[in-house]
Amino acid sequence: MMNITAAEGKAMNKVKIGNIELRSRAVLAPMAGVSDRAYRELCVKFGAAYCVSEMVSSKALSFNSKKSESLMEVSDFERPCGIQIFGDDPECMAYAAEKAMLNNPDIIDINMGCPAPKINSSGSGSALMKNPKLCGDIVQAVVRVCDVPVTVKIRKGWDDFSANAVEVAKICEQAGASAITVHGRTRMQYYKPPVDYDIIKKVKEAVGVPVIANGDIDSAVSAKEVLDKTGCDLVMVGRATLGNPWLFSQISAYLDNPDLPLYYPTIEEKLDIMIEHISAMVKYKGEHMAMLQARKLVAGYFKGIRGAAELRNQAGRISTLKDLYALRQNALLQAEAC
Ligand SMILES: Cc1cc2nc3c(=O)[nH]c(=O)nc-3n(C[C@H](O)[C@H](O)[C@H](O)COP(=O)(O)O)c2cc1C
Repeated sequence: MMNITAAEGKAMNKVKIGNIELRSRAVLAPMAGVSDRAYRELCVKFGAAYCVSEMVSSKALSFNSKKSESLMEVSDFERPCGIQIFGDDPECMAYAAEKAMLNNPDIIDINMGCPAPKINSSGSGSALMKNPKLCGDIVQAVVRVCDVPVTVKIRKGWDDFSANAVEVAKICEQAGASAITVHGRTRMQYYKPPVDYDIIKKVKEAVGVPVIANGDIDSAVSAKEVLDKTGCDLVMVGRATLGNPWLFSQISAYLDNPDLPLYYPTIEEKLDIMIEHISAMVKYKGEHMAMLQARKLVAGYFKGIRGAAELRNQAGRISTLKDLYALRQNALLQAEAC
């Protein structure tokens, strides 16, 4: 008889977060400076189960920061979409969630994983994991004001001596969280290897809500391995999608049938998607801001082209969409010359 792995079994039954039925098993990670509306729309087009916004400061929202408010704009081309908020005060977080709800998100996500000292020094992000009771109080306060599922993104713990992901996940579930994402590294590790998939498995075994595995998933094969290893419902992918939104369709195709060959885009297709991605950013935030951010984002689209280092150098100097078209032309010439 044919063996069906945990990942394949779940691929057949659609995963739900609250009452939201998801189209696939790979979620776009929240990434400040990356997962803006333009990128989320692109990733949904490539089959992401859902996308999560860049983190938004609850404190800044309480001061009516226009910049923070603009990060929460959600369009109908990116559903389902989560807005992520961060902070350390339950009431301020509830207020931020109410403001976020004005944008009609499908999910509100709470950041308990950011390792940046600037965020942790005020007790927010992964510093919250040092105080599990406060984690529960924040989830409870946010759930009270939201009529959409509230999810939580945690790490393994603050450090190896206090790896309390299981405890925090249970408290968040009891407080009303509808799903838990676990990045399998401690805060002290930042982004250094290894990712602890065993602790993610332990979280999955300890709670009844869907669990989303995160950390270093960079291919369809590794997505399936992590789903099988942890028993999780979904994977979350971040850095590996940069310049490669095809990863979402590859993961879906591979989970459906690991025996079929995967589709890999040509260099021309990649560069076309680069133009589509950055043009949407220009449309939503204006050419100046978009091109400053694009300087870093386009590097991913050059992976695999000989002379990518020089193209990345040139990308550091682009300031108009016209410059980007010229860069695309250079990249094509470079690829043809090889
Ligand atoms: C540039 C960048 C920005 C990030 N911003 C956020 C954020 O705003 N909120 C958050 O919860 N995690 C943030 N993260 C962490 C990612 O969501 C994810 O947990 C981490 O990159 C590990 O997943 P990966 O190995 O698939 O990239 C960020 C990561 C990167 C690389």
